[in-house]
Amino acid sequence: MGCVIREATVEDCEQIMSLIQEIAAYHHLEHDVTINSEVLKADGFGANSFFKCLLAEQPAENGNKPGRPIGYALYYFGYSVNHGRMLYLENLYVVPELRSKGIGMKLMKKVAEVALAAGCKEIKFVTVEWNQGAKDFYDRMGAHDTTESMQWHCMELGWDSLQRLAGN
Ligand SMILES: CC(C)(COP(=O)(O)OP(=O)(O)OC[C@H]1O[C@@H](n2cnc3c(N)ncnc32)[C@H](O)[C@@H]1OP(=O)(O)O)[C@@H](O)C(=O)NCCC(=O)NCCS
Repeated sequence: MGCVIREATVEDCEQIMSLIQEIAAYHHLEHDVTINSEVLKADGFGANSFFKCLLAEQPAENGNKPGRPIGYALYYFGYSVNHGRMLYLENLYVVPELRSKGIGMKLMKKVAEVALAAGCKEIKFVTVEWNQGAKDFYDRMGAHDTTESMQWHCMELGWDSLQRLAGN
């Protein structure tokens, strides 16, 4: 399917926010989203940007502007002490009515290009146990499941633990 992938700008934050809410709903985590488009503007497009975002759009027809984004990949750069530079893919999402048309793969291809251009050796991401469709999608491009092969568990220190630990 014809779609254009472009880097998001600060003007896209409302649209990105609504896609973030959609993927949160897909994961039954609507209640867990505490950011808003103003936070995205500051964190993605301020002096010290914490993430980058690629948007998929349908090309403009008859001189019209493209409509709302139909998918996105949100990522940031990190570092692996084993392998060096890496890209962490935080979110990948395509709107339900346009899935299975190659848009997700096109976004991933662009993410891979960005990773290589930045000197990254790997892309990391997580997917939830029940999301077999996403696992099949990632399998097809050669991803391997490190929970299965290396028994890694995802851990996090949430806000309360963080405060306690820091003695606040
Ligand atoms: C995973 C996702 C980004 C793939 O995008 P896409 O545009 O459908 O991907 P492509 O068209 O390039 O590839 C399609 C393949 O993805 C897989 N797939 C995963 N979930 C799917 C879904 N819900 N619907 C259709 N295909 C899905 C299938 O293997 C499919 O192959 P098929 O078309 O031969 O059945 C998209 O399905 C999505 O947004 N899902 C919900 C959110 C999600 O799971 N995100 C990733 C995990 S965090």
